[in-house]
Amino acid sequence: MAKLYVNEKNKQGHINPEIYGHFAEHLGRCIYEGIYVGEDSPIPNKNGMRTDVVEALKEMRIPLLRWPGGCFADEYHWMDGIGPKENRKKMINTHWGGVVEDNSFGTHEFFELCEQLGCKTYVNGNVGSGTVREMSEWVEYITFDGVSPMADLRKANGHEKPWKIDYFGVGNENWGCGGNMTPEYYANLYRRYQTYVRHYDNSAPIKKVCGGANVADYFWTEGVLKTCYAAPQPPMAHGFMDGLSLHYYVHPEGWEIKGSATDFDEKVWYKTLWKALYMEELINRHGAIMDQYDPEKEVGMIVDEWGCWFTVEPGTNPGFLYQQNTMRDALVAGLSLNIFNKHCDRVKMACIAQMVNVLQSVILTEGEKMILTPTYHVFHQYRHHQDADLVESCITGNSTLDAGEKEYQVPKLQESVSIDKDGIVTITLNNLSTTDSEEVEVAFTELNPSDVSASIVNQEMHAYNTFEEPENVTEEAFTAYEITEKGLKFTIPACSVVAFRVK
Ligand code: AHR
Repeated sequence: MAKLYVNEKNKQGHINPEIYGHFAEHLGRCIYEGIYVGEDSPIPNKNGMRTDVVEALKEMRIPLLRWPGGCFADEYHWMDGIGPKENRKKMINTHWGGVVEDNSFGTHEFFELCEQLGCKTYVNGNVGSGTVREMSEWVEYITFDGVSPMADLRKANGHEKPWKIDYFGVGNENWGCGGNMTPEYYANLYRRYQTYVRHYDNSAPIKKVCGGANVADYFWTEGVLKTCYAAPQPPMAHGFMDGLSLHYYVHPEGWEIKGSATDFDEKVWYKTLWKALYMEELINRHGAIMDQYDPEKEVGMIVDEWGCWFTVEPGTNPGFLYQQNTMRDALVAGLSLNIFNKHCDRVKMACIAQMVNVLQSVILTEGEKMILTPTYHVFHQYRHHQDADLVESCITGNSTLDAGEKEYQVPKLQESVSIDKDGIVTITLNNLSTTDSEEVEVAFTELNPSDVSASIVNQEMHAYNTFEEPENVTEEAFTAYEITEKGLKFTIPACSVVAFRVK
């Protein structure tokens, strides 16, 4: 039996809703087909945005959306995507499948989408192949509420009032697809480009995100911070950056092979979960470097690309990164989100890649059909952590698991716990075992539970949803628990994610 101790009196940090963020790139069928179908589509839409997808994302409580890339961002020229659609330039999407990008989804459409979703906006600018002027004018176009060439152009294009940029990324993966730069070279460009990301509305300053490392590239983190970290002090109220990004994808068999999304054995299951748990080491080690410059943790770690990256589904365009999503993805999501919660003192945002039809998506579409993936259901279960306070928790009597490969040993149970402003405690607990359930006793410090509800995502490890069988994996009510004095008692099934709400 395992015991989960919850000290609901010891608040350890605030869980920024943006930790539950998403990413949509001009890649494969993410934007086109997955989100945007155009006003004339027979698929029900509002101003071109699929109604089914928008409704599902709102139900999941999407807090933030990052756009337009990814690698695409450093080749995107925003002026190609404004004005009458018939006049918009067509371009080749060189990174993703070599298809024609007709720019029918541009700045106006992105902000329309975010308005429909009711979420924050994260725009990623072009440093790799764009100019300072281009970036600066994009910010002016979007956010300036006055008379200026760009504000006038926006108005001429039909949008009188400015929009709000919550976060602005100055380049993407500039160590790779964003220009193959060295950390010092990029950091100097960062200093320069970010200068012209102006705060036209001082009541809502834009949070600037500096391009950070890939996986364990600590050399990049150190080199960038050494060159462009500046402490916030007048007149630089925000220093040079509000966030530093980190990208980490889980490829079970490594970058070259990756591995199938649906066809895997127990060994690969544990290896995948071990790789997902590696996120914690990355946060700790990049965080330790950030602490040297920013001990007060003013600069957020922005994990704006994370998730499983498998071999594409057989018969699909290799450049479209379309993959299925099983219970294994559900566990990767559950583990990663618990890690982000537990490091909410430093991690201020995380965006799973990518929202629809690409990599570890929460939604898949096929024509007019839409399905929710196991990952969607986990995000829905975890939504109550958003804007809550992390509280102290620990598990005793936990065991470790592997499938004969000690290198990839994982704990059986993993959790995070928060308390919201109404005093309701949310516990999210994962059972990583493919075969064994576990009896769990929860002990609170003071809370005598009187009002409890719970849900579970639980199926055999390979289970996934298809367009023919969309409900193989769903979120269901979990009622098999007992309320005890100052606690709970239940058996968590193998291969499951459970979420409790306790008052
Ligand atoms: O999410 C797919 C790609 O992965 C992004 O475009 C890029 O930033 C990363 O390498």
